[in-house]
Amino acid sequence: MPLADIRPYLEDSRRKKYALGCFNVFDTETLEGVIEAAVNKKTPVVCAIYEPQFKYSDMESFTDLIKNIASKTDVPVILHLDHATELASIIRAIKCGFTAVMFDGPVGASFEEKVEKTKKAVEIAHLAGATVEAELGYITRVGVDEKASQENIADPKLAKEFVERTGIDILAPAIGSVHGMGEQKAAINLEMLRQIAMSTNCYLSLHGGSGVDDSIVQQAIDFGINKASVYTRLSNRAIERVKDSLSTGKGDISAILNEVRNGFREVVEDRLEVLRSVNICNPANGTCHYCTSEKYCVSKASSPLVSDNQPYIKSSAIGSMSNRTYEDVLNNVSSLIADYVKNK
Ligand code: 13P
Repeated sequence: MPLADIRPYLEDSRRKKYALGCFNVFDTETLEGVIEAAVNKKTPVVCAIYEPQFKYSDMESFTDLIKNIASKTDVPVILHLDHATELASIIRAIKCGFTAVMFDGPVGASFEEKVEKTKKAVEIAHLAGATVEAELGYITRVGVDEKASQENIADPKLAKEFVERTGIDILAPAIGSVHGMGEQKAAINLEMLRQIAMSTNCYLSLHGGSGVDDSIVQQAIDFGINKASVYTRLSNRAIERVKDSLSTGKGDISAILNEVRNGFREVVEDRLEVLRSVNICNPANGTCHYCTSEKYCVSKASSPLVSDNQPYIKSSAIGSMSNRTYEDVLNNVSSLIADYVKNK
């Protein structure tokens, strides 16, 4: 089916207390590994592309491939731009057909600057019906600034203000996780997460998922996390498998790429279990109300992807899209964005 709108699945995850899995992909092998795992586990999946890839990849061709693979896949695939720092990346992603974007804003920006830039990102993305996720506080990185993870935890009062002033769809609060951890040792501040979940009705996402203990991940889901991003564990498993393959002395590149695909698939399957994101695309469970999959949700195939009576629609820009599919909107997106840029 076409690339999916994340909102119906976020709403489903909220009702059923699971989290959508979000996994970084770079190429055919990593993409196929992630999608195969989602198909095996019968669940929607978020494929994330990290902003720096925009600088060295032919994103337009890669996203054509993703759309093509998603169109032949019977589980919903959401295409997410991960950690964008520039509005230009948001525009490029939307033109490529991304259905979800994440905006961190410039590194070191003040709260006010972050609010202003994020509002713009929301305005642009909502023109195309794409959702916006934004980080609050600062989620640190191993080898760069991980020691500062506890000092940068999101403040619940600011979270409420940030969500209200920007109109974002998903909030990624810093709660102590660190990007890039090889072991599940992050000190997660669940109390802060609980307060943030109480202070805003926004969907919540967890980043740096590789370093969070499984039982804490599940508590975080119980406290309100709807989407969880994991990458380092996938990469580490793929590397282990490649090393094993090389140690047998074979060294054939196609076999090595296959190890990458299988490494990603194995770990994504395992993480989807931890996130309780399994068997979601199963009509017998009465789930997937808005899914257009011919295989799993054929009875719902004619439902509009976005309609006025769905409570999770907050933006008036998105509201005005009712009864239009993503295809309709994306066909018009270049002129919408050109108008937006001209009028600002
Ligand atoms: P990890 O690599 O730590 O799992 O984090 C992934 C992530 O948060 C991507 O945005």
